[in-house]
Amino acid sequence: MAKANVICRCEEIEIDEIRKWIAAGYTEFDELKRMLRVGMGPCQGRGCRDIILRELAKATGRNVADIAPGTIRPPVKPIKISLLAEDCD
Ligand code: FES
Repeated sequence: MAKANVICRCEEIEIDEIRKWIAAGYTEFDELKRMLRVGMGPCQGRGCRDIILRELAKATGRNVADIAPGTIRPPVKPIKISLLAEDCD
């Protein structure tokens, strides 16, 4: 059965879960990321980061621009070890 208010589709985190952690004092994106894994899925937060930042802004009375968007890392792709060894000659 599909969840009704999933915000982070990669990690299947609903808005109620996010609000619960914000109410518990986790008011930075990176804190929510550590607790819920939001922003750590295959899309690296492209699908949920802005929504969560808006929710944090609404809950804390800050502007979205004043909230750190969290650490953004490029997607990691597997590569062949031989590619790394090519320059070792
Ligand atoms: S939707 Fe949240 S990490 Fe992809």
